[in-house]
Amino acid sequence: MQPIKWTASKIKTLKGKRFACLTAYDYISAKLIGECGVPLLLVGDSLGMVVLGYETTLPVTMEEMLHHTAAVARGAGNALVVGDMPFLSYHVSIGQAVENAGRFIKLSGAGAVKIEGGALRAELVKTLTGNGIPVMGHIGLTPQSIRTLGGYKVAGRQAKEIKRLLADARALEKAGAFALVLECMPPDAARKITSALKIPTIGIGAGPYCDGQILVTHDMLGFSGKVSPRFVKRYADFAGQMKAAVGKFKKDVENLQFPAQEHCYD
Ligand code: KIV
Repeated sequence: MQPIKWTASKIKTLKGKRFACLTAYDYISAKLIGECGVPLLLVGDSLGMVVLGYETTLPVTMEEMLHHTAAVARGAGNALVVGDMPFLSYHVSIGQAVENAGRFIKLSGAGAVKIEGGALRAELVKTLTGNGIPVMGHIGLTPQSIRTLGGYKVAGRQAKEIKRLLADARALEKAGAFALVLECMPPDAARKITSALKIPTIGIGAGPYCDGQILVTHDMLGFSGKVSPRFVKRYADFAGQMKAAVGKFKKDVENLQFPAQEHCYD
């Protein structure tokens, strides 16, 4: 059977199924994750924190996102590549947002973009999808708003908040979003949203009832050098393995064990 070439509209067919998504920021990890059959690779603006060393996602620029998205698109194979629109790239005007979203599609090879925010972004989502740019929404904890939220806080703990999140989700679906990220909310809130929508929800810290799940790859591989949030399950210890390998190489060089005969040319 031919492997599926994932597009935004094919991702919609995953509603009601369970599927895994991951973030990617470079060619080789995109290639390896794509080869595992993961249908959607998000070039998240988490790039700023796990790759570029910023404290938050706020300083990430369009140029940084385009550079890394292009690398991911070269490696992604059949996975859909989603470019995360960074802070202030879609806030100033709809015109500027269309231009920036278009750069992801035209210059970096992304197949879709992601935008944070609820009903406030519905008009923009409608304009982008109407202009041929698929959009993935993102509600709940939206890290680009930490300054107004007052930090990384769990959303949807109270009935009033769940009602607002449901209204946000419905507005984004109506505007044409093909999928919706639900970040950091109690499982019951995510369950209500998931069952109210025809498009797939993709949870991160949102419990087991979402259609898909996504994690920041560096967190789940134990490669971020930081304490991960509670919702992360660690599948490897890349930081530990890297340190052990680098330590061994350093020792070999210092003890004249490297390079050996087999590493030298005749
Ligand atoms: O930037 C990112 O990696 C994200 C995910 C956490 C969904 O937005």
